[in-house]
Amino acid sequence: MTVTELQTRKAELLKSLEATTSAADLESFKLAHIVRKGSIAALFDDLKNVPKEIKPEVGKALNELRISVEEKFKNKETALGGPIHEKADTLDLTMPSRPLTVSEPGHEHPLNKTLDEMVGIFVNMGFDVAYGPEIEDDEHNFEKLNFAPDHPARDMQDTFFIKPSKDWKPESGEKPVLLRTHTSPVQVRLMESGKLPIRAVMPGRVYRNEAISARSAACFYQLEGLVIDKGVSMADLKGILLSFAKQFYGDDTKIRLRPSYFPFTEPSVEVDVSCYICGGKGCRICKSSGWLEVLGAGMVHPNVLRDCGIDAEIYTGYAFGMGIDRTALMRYGINDIRFFTENDYRFLRQF
Ligand code: PHE
Repeated sequence: MTVTELQTRKAELLKSLEATTSAADLESFKLAHIVRKGSIAALFDDLKNVPKEIKPEVGKALNELRISVEEKFKNKETALGGPIHEKADTLDLTMPSRPLTVSEPGHEHPLNKTLDEMVGIFVNMGFDVAYGPEIEDDEHNFEKLNFAPDHPARDMQDTFFIKPSKDWKPESGEKPVLLRTHTSPVQVRLMESGKLPIRAVMPGRVYRNEAISARSAACFYQLEGLVIDKGVSMADLKGILLSFAKQFYGDDTKIRLRPSYFPFTEPSVEVDVSCYICGGKGCRICKSSGWLEVLGAGMVHPNVLRDCGIDAEIYTGYAFGMGIDRTALMRYGINDIRFFTENDYRFLRQF
């Protein structure tokens, strides 16, 4: 191997590079000459056989050959559209894509839909929305709501106590901690806060130790409302409930109030709405009565106002409370309350 031979070789390689017009040819050139086992590397291997005296000039010529060829190769590569692995003609556009596993958007839960709609109606009528803890104490869930110490609702049959144990007696003086059995303790907390007037609804989850069946669950949802101001009367309560019923159940809806009893309201009423399925004529849903029982309500008991630090001589108020789950059952024609918590996609996707 001599300097002249190397110069000739260099000229040949450059000429051959010059002649390449496609990315594929350029790739072949690279494989033949430039890669680690290519012809140029072989020349470097051969250097060890060159006589010592001419080795420096031969080595220099060989380096020049390598640099020129590599430089020319790079230029050619750029001219032909960049490095070969990034070129579009190497992309197989016929390759099938990965299958899409999520093919539809999420769905709103029927309970949330019902609750949001109800809350929205009250918000439009000027109500605030208030929340409270699900783990409550006896004071907020019962005591300040005028439940006598031996009231049956405090019983283990209804209430999930967190502490103390089931042997608790009112006389012991120990204040039980429990899962709230209704959203009324949020009313107590609002009244205690001392900010008057109050006009709010309280949506939330409540717990009762009931046998689970198609019609009843141990955990369900309520929406309660509370209005406290000067001069609030039963007529205001009736007006608000009628307006709500028309917006939620339809414009032709009528309501009727029946006397009832709750420890925290006096007088107390059960409120029925005319059946929105049959229009009051009588059907399977309203059990031929033409009416659906939807909520409990009444004027806040003066004892409750006083215990929460409100002057019952100056202020009066009304409260109401309704269950969300049964309303949603009727509204969507669902026949089993357990569907709400089973998270079965086949059920949920219908809403
Ligand atoms: N807290 C009552 C219940 O859970 C409902 C209610 C609220 C009744 C407010 C009257 C007034 O049954």
